[in-house]
Amino acid sequence: MKERELTLEVVRVTEAAAIASARLMGTGDGIACDQAAVDAMRMAFSELDIWGRIVIGEGELDEAPMLTIGEEVGMRTPTSMHVDIAVDPLEGTRLCAHGAPGALSVLALAEEGQFLHAPDCYMKKIAVGPAARDAIDLRESATWNLQRIAKAKGVQVSDLTAVILHRPRHDALIAEVRECGARICLISDGDVSAAVATNRERSGIDVLFGVGGSPEGVVSAAALKCMGGGFQAQLAFQNETERQRARAMGLKDPDQIFDRDDLAKGDVVFAATGITGGSLLKAVRFYAGGAWTQSLVLRSHTGTIRNIEAYHDFSRKRN
Ligand code: FBP
Repeated sequence: MKERELTLEVVRVTEAAAIASARLMGTGDGIACDQAAVDAMRMAFSELDIWGRIVIGEGELDEAPMLTIGEEVGMRTPTSMHVDIAVDPLEGTRLCAHGAPGALSVLALAEEGQFLHAPDCYMKKIAVGPAARDAIDLRESATWNLQRIAKAKGVQVSDLTAVILHRPRHDALIAEVRECGARICLISDGDVSAAVATNRERSGIDVLFGVGGSPEGVVSAAALKCMGGGFQAQLAFQNETERQRARAMGLKDPDQIFDRDDLAKGDVVFAATGITGGSLLKAVRFYAGGAWTQSLVLRSHTGTIRNIEAYHDFSRKRN
């Protein structure tokens, strides 16, 4: 199977994960929601004609097999295309567990060796849409970046909206952005969705600032590569052990500032399916004998953006 054909196939994987975790929405049990998404995703991968290797996943190799880094997925026949895969079967575990908006199932796919093999630690990020792609610099302050983004977009700083994860670690950042006069959207979880929103013209979101998960960072970089946006990141280690792990995973300079294409090289494909619904994608809806899903599928080679609505008939297929 070619990368072009795969683009339409991979959405089945995020759809399956979304449906499975959506069934547990609001149970309060994040682990069960996550496990349901992982199990469904693995099953759906097994029906794809690929030889896939999870490079960004649900954990490291020494943990239980659940789409861990290094795990191989897909039909894995001699003719299958070899691909590297970054997955977040349930992005926004708490959101799904609480039935709050914004949970997604996401994955990104590329040829072997094209994704940064990032350890599962924190990552400092900045994401913007195409108009401000060349205006950002993670080495600089939020104030500097907001002024540059405003200039690139031909607006005032006070017209901009920044998304920031609502965490105590961001108190100083939030204060700085307020001081600049930009508007702020504080989110409880889900910075992949926020990064993608910076590239959706009508989202009203101009920039994502702050520290979130590194797996989410690589997936976001893949999405923004497809949409033409800007993304920069730097691993934010909590301790020396994490830094050493990054070195052991092959990173020569763990403090490097990564540009979008350092995280996701070559041609990439991105797919996301809404679970609980939000501004990016609508929620899974169940009806008698089936379910409805809404997904976003992106391909960097052509820049094609596909919005896919699907009705799944449970009487005719496994779910
Ligand atoms: P999970 O779905 O893995 O829980 O991630 C949700 C999330 O909000 C991400 O979008 C974000 O990158 C990360 O958690 C932030 O981590 P933390 O909750 O530790 O601040």
